[in-house]
Amino acid sequence: MKVGSQVHKELFCRDFIDTHQRFEPNQLPWPKLDDKDIERLRAVPFWQEVFHTERRAGAIVGAFAETVHDPLLRETIDLQGFEEARHARLIRFMIDQYGLDATERPLEPLPDDIETAFIDFGYGECLDAFLGFGVFKIARDSGFLPDAMFSVFDILMLEETRHIVFFVNWMAYREALHGRGFAPLRAVTAAKYYGRAVQRLVGTIRTGAEGDGQEFSATQANIFLEGFSIKKLLANCLTENKRRMSQFDQRLLRPQLLPTLGRLVFSGMKLWPSR
Ligand SMILES: [Fe+2]
Ligand SMILES: [Fe+2]
Repeated sequence: MKVGSQVHKELFCRDFIDTHQRFEPNQLPWPKLDDKDIERLRAVPFWQEVFHTERRAGAIVGAFAETVHDPLLRETIDLQGFEEARHARLIRFMIDQYGLDATERPLEPLPDDIETAFIDFGYGECLDAFLGFGVFKIARDSGFLPDAMFSVFDILMLEETRHIVFFVNWMAYREALHGRGFAPLRAVTAAKYYGRAVQRLVGTIRTGAEGDGQEFSATQANIFLEGFSIKKLLANCLTENKRRMSQFDQRLLRPQLLPTLGRLVFSGMKLWPSR
C-alpha cells in the first residue's frame, strides 16, 4: 500500500468509521463510588483542563471538517469532531454525577488558519496519548480508583488512540499529496510540531502547578505516586503504546517519533545505575 494513494485514504478512513461506537455518556457503566473514592476523584487537579480541552477539540475538529472538500475525509474528520464533543459531554456527565469541582471556561476564538490548528491539535494528541498511556496504566495498577472507573475511561483512551492513528495517516497522506511524502522529511515536520506540542504541555503543567497541583501531590495522590519514577513511567508508556497500537490494521501507519525517542531514552536510563 502506497502512502498517499486512494487505497491508503480508503483504509484509514474506513477503519476509523467502522470502529466508531454508538453510545451516550449516561449509558456507560459508571460505578457507584464511596466517599473515599469520590474524594480521590475530586482531588485530581486536571478535570477542568480536560473538560476545556475536549470542548476546544470538538470545536477545532468540527470547524476543520467543514473546510475539507474530499467527501470521505470530511465524513471521517466530522465523526472525530463528534467523538471529541462527546468526550466533553462524558467529562461533563462525570463532573455532575460525582460533584467534581470544575467550571466551564469560555472557549477561545478559533484561529483563522484552522488547518494548522487541526495539525497542532493532532500532534498534541499524539504527545498527550503517549504519556497518557503510561499514566493510565500506573494509575490503574495502583488501584487509585475502582477498576470499573478505569473501564469507563478506557473507552475514551481507545477513541483517542483511534484519533491519533487516523491523524498520522491523514498527515502522511497530506504530505504525500504535497510532494513531501519522503519519510525522513515527514519526520522533520513531525519534530517541528512535536516541539510546539511539548512547549504547550509544559505551559499547561506550569499553570496547573500554580493552582491545585501541589495540593494533589501532597495528599490524595500518595497511593499513585508511591514508587513513581520517570523510568517506570517511560517503561509503561512504551509497553502500553505497543499494546494499544498492535490492535490496529497492520497496514496503517502509527506514531513513530515519540516511541522511537522514548526507546532511546529508556535504553540510556537502563545503563544508568538505579539507586
Ligand atoms: Fe478527546
Ligand atoms: Fe481525540
